[in-house]
Amino acid sequence: MQITLETKPFAALETDALVSYVFEETDPVQGRIAEIDQAAAGLLRKLAKSGELTGKTLEFTLVHAPAGLKAARLLLVGAGKREQFNGATLRKITGAALRYLKARAVKNFALLVREGEATGETAQIIAEGALLSNFESDKYKTDKKNDKNIETVLVAGYSDSERSAGDKGLSKGRIIADAQNFTRDLVNEPSNKLTPRILAEKAEAMAKEAGLSVQILDEKKIADLKMGALLSVAQGSVEPPRVIVVTYNPANAKPGAPVIGLVGKAVTLDTGGISIKPAEGMEKMKYDMAGGATMLGVMRALAALKPAVKVICVVPSTENMPGSKAQKPGDIQTAMSGKTIEVLNTDAEGRLILADGITYTKQLGATHLIDAATLTGAIVIALANINVGVFGSDQAFTDKLIASSKAAGEKMWQMPIDDDYREFIKGSFADIQNISSGKGGGAITGAMFIKEFTGDSPWIHLDIAGTAWNDDAKPWLAKGPTGVALRTLVHLVTSY
Ligand code: BES
Ligand code: ZN
Ligand code: ZN
Repeated sequence: MQITLETKPFAALETDALVSYVFEETDPVQGRIAEIDQAAAGLLRKLAKSGELTGKTLEFTLVHAPAGLKAARLLLVGAGKREQFNGATLRKITGAALRYLKARAVKNFALLVREGEATGETAQIIAEGALLSNFESDKYKTDKKNDKNIETVLVAGYSDSERSAGDKGLSKGRIIADAQNFTRDLVNEPSNKLTPRILAEKAEAMAKEAGLSVQILDEKKIADLKMGALLSVAQGSVEPPRVIVVTYNPANAKPGAPVIGLVGKAVTLDTGGISIKPAEGMEKMKYDMAGGATMLGVMRALAALKPAVKVICVVPSTENMPGSKAQKPGDIQTAMSGKTIEVLNTDAEGRLILADGITYTKQLGATHLIDAATLTGAIVIALANINVGVFGSDQAFTDKLIASSKAAGEKMWQMPIDDDYREFIKGSFADIQNISSGKGGGAITGAMFIKEFTGDSPWIHLDIAGTAWNDDAKPWLAKGPTGVALRTLVHLVTSY
C-alpha cells in the first residue's frame, strides 16, 4: 500500500473516495467541511440539517458521485467532540475509514486533514492508522480476497510549504507501523510454525536486514551461562530454548548516557506445563511470545529511526510443555543471578524466563530496564483489555514512559509495587517462590517476582496479557495481535 502526500486542491482529486472527518458540534459544517460543502453546492449542510451528519464518533456518511468533486465518493467520518479530539482518535478514524472502504472494494482514497492540522505529526498518525488497519490475520488462508485491497492512500490538505514536514511524518509513521505489523505477524504464527529456534532465525534475519548486531544463544550457551530459571521451563519440551540478543549501538551515543535494556517474554506456546491449563482457549497461548515480538519490532524501528542511544534487546524464548522431563510443582531452581526459586506453579513461567533475561541484560551493560510480557491473567481482571499494566521501580523513569504512552496513543495504567507486596513472593523453602500463597494481586505478584532480579537499576514492567490480543475485530483493527506497547517504547527511546 502506497501512502503519499498530495497538495492539489481536494475538489480536483480524482480518487475513489475523498474522506474527511467531522466534529460533533452545534454546527458540524465548519472549516474544511464548510469548504467541501461549498464545492458540493450545500450538500453537507442539508445532511447536517436532516440529522445524517452529526460528527458522532465513528458515524459514517457516504455520498456517491458528489456534485462539484472529482472524487467518485465522499466519505465523512464522525470524530466526536473537538475538545476531545487527539492523535489516538485520528489514528482510529483513519483506520476505520480504510476498513470501511476496503470492505466496499475501493482501491484508493484521499484523506483530507482538517484546517490547521497539516503537520508532520498528523501525517505520521495517518500513515500509522492506515498501515495498522490494513493488516489482516490471513497468512494461512488460501482465499485471500485479493480483490479487496487498498492500493493507494493520499494524504491531502497540505500546502507546498507544509510538504516537507508532512513527508517526514509519513516516513516516520511508515517505519513505526511496519515494525508494529512485523510484531503482529510474529504473534500470529502458531507454535508449530514458530518454535524458539524459528523465532531466533526470524529475529536474526530481521536484525541483519536492519543493520543491527545479533547473537543467538543456543541451549548449550544458555546452560554455560547457568540460566537455570529459563532452562527449568524449557526442560518440559523437546524444542530447545533460545535467547535472542539484538543490539543497537549508534556511534553518536554519548559516553555515560543510559543504555536501555529491553527484555521480552517469548513463550511460543504456554500450555501451563505440569500445572496444565484447561483445553478451552489454550490455542490462544501462542500469543505468549508477544512481549518478545514487541521488543524485536521496537529494535527494527529504532534501526531506521536512528536515535542516539544504545539499546540492548534480550528475548528469552521457550515452549512451556508438560513433557516427561518437565519441572514439577515444588521443584527448586537456581536462577542465573544465584537466587533460588521454589516453583509452586509451572504455569507462572514467564517470570522465570524473564528473571534470567534481566540478569543477562544487566550483565551486557544495560542501565535502564524495561520488560514486556503477557504475564498474568490477573492484569486482565484488573484492567480488562483496555490498559497495559505498568509497574515501575523508579517514578521519574515510569513517568517518562507514561508520557510516551500518551503521545503514542496507547493506554497504560500504573500499578503499585511497594515493599508491602514483597511478602507475596517470600519463599518457604527457597529464596523466593513463583506464585503468592495468598489470594489477590496476581499481576503485582508477577511484577514483584521480576523486580527481585533488577537490583538497583531503574526498571519498568509492562503486563500486556490483556492488550496484546484483540478478540473481536474493531472498525479500525483486525481480530488478532495488536502490537501494543511498540509505539510507546519507540517514542520513549527516541525521546532520549
Ligand atoms: N501466559 C500466562 C498469562 C496470560 C493469561 C496471558 C491470559 C494471556 C492471557 C502466564 O504464563 C500464566 O499462565 N500466568 C498464570 C499465573 C498464575 C499461575 C499465578 C495466570 O495468570 O493464571
Ligand atoms: Zn503460564
Ligand atoms: Zn505464559
